[in-house]
Amino acid sequence: MAIESSCDETAAAVVEKLGNGVKVLSSVVASSSVMHEKYGGIVPEVAAREQIKSIIPTIEEAIKSADVSTEEIEAIAVSAGPGLIGSLLVGVETAKCLSLIFNKPIIEVNHVAAHVYSSFLIKEHSDPVPVMPALALVVSGGHTDLILLSSLNDWRWIGGTRDDAVGECFDKCARVLGLPYPGGPSISASALKAKEKLPQSLMLPMPMVDEGLEMSFSGMKTAMIDKVRLSEGKYTNELAAELNNKIVKILRIKTERAMEMYSPNSLIVCGGVAANRLLREEMKELSNTSGIPLFMPEMEYCTDNAAMVGAMAVMNGIKKEIDEIAARSNWEVF
Ligand code: KG4
Ligand code: ZN
Repeated sequence: MAIESSCDETAAAVVEKLGNGVKVLSSVVASSSVMHEKYGGIVPEVAAREQIKSIIPTIEEAIKSADVSTEEIEAIAVSAGPGLIGSLLVGVETAKCLSLIFNKPIIEVNHVAAHVYSSFLIKEHSDPVPVMPALALVVSGGHTDLILLSSLNDWRWIGGTRDDAVGECFDKCARVLGLPYPGGPSISASALKAKEKLPQSLMLPMPMVDEGLEMSFSGMKTAMIDKVRLSEGKYTNELAAELNNKIVKILRIKTERAMEMYSPNSLIVCGGVAANRLLREEMKELSNTSGIPLFMPEMEYCTDNAAMVGAMAVMNGIKKEIDEIAARSNWEVF
């Protein structure tokens, strides 16, 4: 049984080993994102309070819909960081309590690594899983990383953002455009309504694309503020489309370059922004043209969920003692 509570989602799941991957028996996600809408971003204190309200009902529902007894649960896994400390503490302390009450071992999991392991979630026994070396593009609200996995225990950061994460860029630009939080889905929805051709003067830059694997997204928000002012309230949908297109283009260029440099056997694309329709299409196309198989979780396992936490616990989890587990807001994978 796995728990995820690092940000504004409270999630619980029951998973089991299947073939070379992990099968989801249940996955329940409660989100407090609507409560953050009016602020245009997450309010940590509000998120933590909502986690407390949702955590027990969410776990109960996950166990009930998986149709397992507490005796059948082998271990309790929890995402212990990185994330908002108040939110993380709710999941971690709940996991510890349950571990004591039901006498189950506990497994702590890094949230960003868990996003990568979402690519091991399968439905059928014979379904394929990523083959090493694998290249992973992790795109979420807090991370934009290119990671080379030589094995499950040998990960190397080979590129990614120097400043804002790509999800953060969507969220900030949505706010500038007057679109609701979270920005990723609202920018995509607005982009679909674009009709006019965007004047040259309103086009956005593509920083750092010409070489290397590093990226920068903080300038996009500044550029967007500028373009919104210039456009005098017109072209909202067109600017959303411009941002969506440019971000996906940057991610494709960098991923393609990393594939040429490292010749991986598999490509993994994961994290909340991997729910972006255009990015999914581009990555499928990149996989088809390069012949490198793509592992991109279904949309529900791209954004924060507990099935990915369970996947990592099953594939590569180390059982620990309760006093060895602690919420760590800055826990980096590398
Ligand atoms: O992985 P995630 O749920 O949480 C973190 O670990 O940060 O990612 C959340 C981010 C948010 O910035 C949100 O705007 C973005 O993922 N996101 C999307 C989409 N759905 C969520 N970005 C682009 N397109 C989407 N469809
Ligand atoms: Zn996440």
